[in-house]
Order: sequence, then structure tokens, then C-alpha cells
Amino acid sequence: MGQTTLFTREQIDNRVTEMGRQISTDFAGTEMIALCVLKGAVFFCADLVRQVSLDVALDFVQVSSYGNQKYSSGVVTILKEPQLDMRGKAVLIVEDIIDSGLSMREVFNYIEGRGASKVKTATFLDKPKARKVPFHADYVGFTIEPQFVVGYGLDFAEKYRNIPEVQVLSD
Ligand code: IMP
Ligand code: MG
Repeated sequence: MGQTTLFTREQIDNRVTEMGRQISTDFAGTEMIALCVLKGAVFFCADLVRQVSLDVALDFVQVSSYGNQKYSSGVVTILKEPQLDMRGKAVLIVEDIIDSGLSMREVFNYIEGRGASKVKTATFLDKPKARKVPFHADYVGFTIEPQFVVGYGLDFAEKYRNIPEVQVLSD
């Protein structure tokens, strides 16, 4: 398998800083919770919340993953529930990548049912051409082609998450 760089550390840092600024403006005056979708979004979420100039509570949710496959099975279940009370809070769901849209749709519907005053979504990467169900994120780091990428939290069978940049994985 070969790997080529798609986004460098510098490109990632610049974009995450911009996103943090926008989110700081949009969430001003709210009680904000950043809800990190495990595991892929941990690095993005950690970088993003540090670029938000507001008090941000942090929580985590985990949904079933692809296992060792590059393509979604289509079945999404909640593996780990958030701990915080979301009633009246402004929740930003933070995801690594939106592909088919199935995971985000599931997380979004699940969180909407918890009484938050607003629910927005931020994804580091977006593959709009790979959607199986329509889903539009409020904040998108980079839009990419339907190719398989790793690094900056994104894995293939649990490998490559700790690569600091984003690379395309080719067979
Ligand atoms: P979706 O439910 O098909 O939108 O898939 C979303 C999840 O699949 C993401 O949160 C990732 O964990 C994983 N995923 C989708 N595309 C990629 C990729 O290119 N590289 C690594 N993981 C991916
Ligand atoms: Mg994920």
C-alpha cells in the first residue's frame, strides 16, 4: 500500500484555526458542548476546541465503526453514550470525516433527542460524492474526492491514526 500527502500540518493548522474563529463567533453567548465522535475525531477536536475563544465543555460519543473494511456496512449503533446533560446547551458534534453520511445522521438524530437548544456539526473532512443519505455539515475543514484517507486521527484497521498529516491510502 502506498501513501501520498493530501494535507500538510501547516494546511491543517491554518484551516482548523479559521474554523475555530468562525465557531467562536457563531457560538458566542451560548453554553457550548463540543461532542467528539470517537475515535477518529480526537485530534481534530483537541485542536479545534483550543482555537475556540469561549468556555467549551467536552464530551464523547462513539458509534460502531467499519471494522477492517474500507466501506460502510450501513448499520450504525451507539457504542458509547455522552455523559453531560445537553438540555438547553449548544452542542457542536465534531467528526473526522463524513462519507456515506450514515454515522452523522445517526449521531445527529440521537443528540437532537436530548433537548439541546442547538445542534451543529463540524467535520474535518467531507466526501460529498460518497453520500448514501443526504447530510450537510455546518462546518467543513476540507472537501475531498471519494478516496480513502488516513492520518490526523483517521485510520485503516486502527493503523495510521498518529500520522500528523493527511495521506491518501492507495492499494
Ligand atoms: P459514514 O457513516 O460512511 O459517513 O462514515 C463515517 C466514518 O467512517 C468516519 O467517522 C470514519 O471513521 C470512517 N471513514 C469514512 N471514510 C474514511 C476514510 O477515508 N478514512 C478513514 N476513515 C473513514
Ligand atoms: Mg469516525
